[in-house]
Amino acid sequence: MIGLGYLGATHAVAMATLGHEVIGIEPDQSRLEPLKNGVVPFYEPGLQDALKKVIAAGKLSFQNSHDEKSAAAEVHFICVGTPQQKGKETADTSYVFSAAKQLAAVLKPESLVVGKSTVPVGTARHLISSIQEIAGFEPRLCWNPEFLREGTALEDSLAPDRIVIGSNDPLINKNLKDCYQQILDTGTPLLELDLETAELVKVSANAFLATKISFINAMAEIAEAAGADAVKLAEAIGMDSRIGKSFLRTGIGFGGGCLPKDIRGFIARADELGVGSSLKFLTEVDNINLRRRQRVIDLAVAELEDPGHKKVSVLGISFKPDSDDLRDSPALDIALGLQSKGAQVIVHDPVSLAALEARQTGLSVAEEVLEATKDADLIILGTEWAEYRKLDPSTLNPKTKTIIDGRNVLSVNDWQKAGFKVIALGRNIQNG
Ligand code: UGA
Repeated sequence: MIGLGYLGATHAVAMATLGHEVIGIEPDQSRLEPLKNGVVPFYEPGLQDALKKVIAAGKLSFQNSHDEKSAAAEVHFICVGTPQQKGKETADTSYVFSAAKQLAAVLKPESLVVGKSTVPVGTARHLISSIQEIAGFEPRLCWNPEFLREGTALEDSLAPDRIVIGSNDPLINKNLKDCYQQILDTGTPLLELDLETAELVKVSANAFLATKISFINAMAEIAEAAGADAVKLAEAIGMDSRIGKSFLRTGIGFGGGCLPKDIRGFIARADELGVGSSLKFLTEVDNINLRRRQRVIDLAVAELEDPGHKKVSVLGISFKPDSDDLRDSPALDIALGLQSKGAQVIVHDPVSLAALEARQTGLSVAEEVLEATKDADLIILGTEWAEYRKLDPSTLNPKTKTIIDGRNVLSVNDWQKAGFKVIALGRNIQNG
């Protein structure tokens, strides 16, 4: 398993759980050392216990580079990141190419190379020639995109909705199918596609999910202007089985290390392919998404009147619950936006405060919700952690009882009964 970030670490544990002998390769010591000691260097429910189990069973080991043993592996999974390039929209595939080149130097002709990273369509074919140049033979390479979600990563890996394999060689497909046999035996659908289609499945799935979220958030903008309720609207349209109710939760929008950078990279790739107009709508998907963050900042400033002398409490800072990932987090952007307007912002999050401290944002943090909200002029719910959904508003002691529900998960009734003014995105709430 080459690259032990979110994807690689989870896939390594998943493959070892299936009984395979897995060697994890990661040059970054800050990731490698904890993993060697059975510690997952990010928050992911269930992964820590599963990691300990497979290490104890002797199924998973770690090292910082290839050696004879790892070179002899039957299958090499490439799981390194493809972040957005600095100052550009395009995906940075340099980690994929550098991982492939290092592998090429030790690769055996009979071994299988499996790409799992999310890449711009066409990357796999370039990788084949890039590996061939170094290895001196055409590698047996296929693309096998991963659809795991943070927060349910292990479950998603062991019980995926589908397995996609992209290659032109039935024998390659057979070898990879053998790896996943136990999963396939449970009836998981398998799609055997060409390389390019397999690469596209991943980015287009993420683009579709992002579009669905931005669609309902655009409806929220309309609802706000027209005095309608986007939450009830989402419920009503979601009952149409052709539309479906998932990914229609309106609020401050999508963030994380995948959806935002994937739609930007996809737009850039379409441009390179000369079909930029096909994905122009994704630019608007991105714009709608970012406007929701600004909307909360505007609502907050309007409430506070003079943010410079006010205290704002932000509950939840990760991009979604059950994760400590702060990449492109809508809640973090809002907190920083209000801080830049002079407000004293105090943040609470059940698991992400250490990750926040590491970023040195200057935001104040509180270990307890009561402490974070005490004397606040405004509370903002940024991430819908279960802890906040269950909060009893009557136990809080802010200076001004006003909350902006950025995720539309709180009971308006309960909070109003406790004396709060409730502001929510896309809703027409009458506060007494
Ligand atoms: C996403 C995809 O869902 C995975 O299938 C994919 O494998 C992964 O990216 C990836 O490319 O690696 P993830 O980023 O973990 O997974 O999180 P999601 O559950 O998709 O949520 C993304 C964002 O959308 C979060 O900020 C979430 O709060 C937001 N969201 C989600 C909404 O605002 N409304 C919704 O209805 C659903």
